[in-house]
Amino acid sequence: MSRKNAFYAQSGGVTAVINASACGVIETARQHRDKIGKVYAGRDGIIGALTEDLIDTSKESARDIAALKFAPGGAFGSCRYKLKGLEENRAQYERLIEVFKAHNIGYFFYNGGNDSMDTAHKVSQIGKSLGYPITCVGIPKTVDNDLPITDNCPGFGSVAKYIAVSTKEAAMDVLSMSRTSTKVFVLEVMGRHAGWIAAAGGLAADNPGDAPHIILFPEVPFNQEKFLAKVKKTVETKSYCVIVVSEGASYPDGRFLADAGNKDAFGHVQLGGVAPVVAQMVRDNLGYKFHYAVADYLQRSARHIASQTDLDQAYAVGKAAVKMALAGKNAVMPVIVRKSDSPYRWGIGEAKLGRVANKEKILPKSYISKDGFGITAAGRRYLEPLIKGEAYPPYKNGTPRYVRLKNVAVPKKLDSDFVI
Ligand code: F6P
Repeated sequence: MSRKNAFYAQSGGVTAVINASACGVIETARQHRDKIGKVYAGRDGIIGALTEDLIDTSKESARDIAALKFAPGGAFGSCRYKLKGLEENRAQYERLIEVFKAHNIGYFFYNGGNDSMDTAHKVSQIGKSLGYPITCVGIPKTVDNDLPITDNCPGFGSVAKYIAVSTKEAAMDVLSMSRTSTKVFVLEVMGRHAGWIAAAGGLAADNPGDAPHIILFPEVPFNQEKFLAKVKKTVETKSYCVIVVSEGASYPDGRFLADAGNKDAFGHVQLGGVAPVVAQMVRDNLGYKFHYAVADYLQRSARHIASQTDLDQAYAVGKAAVKMALAGKNAVMPVIVRKSDSPYRWGIGEAKLGRVANKEKILPKSYISKDGFGITAAGRRYLEPLIKGEAYPPYKNGTPRYVRLKNVAVPKKLDSDFVI
């Protein structure tokens, strides 16, 4: 079999450690030069393949590729761009295959979440039907931690650590002046349908009763009366109240507390702004002074406080993806398998893409406390190992030193343009 090149693309919201997966892919492929030619990356994700805008990662030094482990964001660019079904938009798939053929690409590594695994699955099926089989391997990534089968998703451990640390630190700040000033602090975190990140806020508490005093999960329909009663009681007994709210918190009828009215390319409602809604509700009904913060992109880019466990797992799934492809596996995704909680032990397993695509794993009931406002011991047992270990980047002049790749374009081979 002639040596094929590989195509790697980052997809969807980026994380503090997605580049560690890229590093795992590229370093492992470089160790198997007899089987894999070059690794091309898509500039801005799959859009790079459609527009034949490929990046030649062989132009990057081993040192810069290794430094990807420390850099947040998507080193090659990412996108939210949904490939439709074959019947709806055959031209898109034909174009992908045309570009793959032109550049002798035989392996497709797609680093993303639920929607991306669906795309990778479709490409694996369509390549075959168009007479150009492609080995497609998904690489899990999402701060939302909502992919099924895998015990957890690379990207989540670091965002969870950032939220746990920030909640702890902000709580100490609020407590300092709570007698005369701010009584309520609200931190908004990501996670549109699953409350994994919100739950991670619970790790800020060392002892029962510590902040955060209230967590609002998407899995628990919002009950204003119960919520306000809990805020009041907490302020009366502790003098302050720290609330972590998921952007996906919603009313019993399914309406988001923070529906911003916009939709993205996947038709998802764009969220943001639940913290001011909740804070103002407290102020209007209880009169307490508040501060709030929207962690937003700060949480998923916080590489300076990344979890070592998360970093190791992000690298491991990138490496495993290449190994799987070389073993002739197709339409699969490496998953993280938990072997024990304490000591925490994990390994890499395998899932069929068809079983992962478009499915969301929400927080189990057993991880949410009876009153719906906190996490249980089981939740803590699950979450804690994922945030463990510090993986500080190198610093220079007081800020982290993050690599910027050259991202040299591969010369185009096709005459035709493709409009996305
Ligand atoms: O997919 C991860 C995620 O970070 C979600 O938690 C969040 O709602 C969304 O991405 C934000 O998406 P975007 O960056 O496209 O606005």
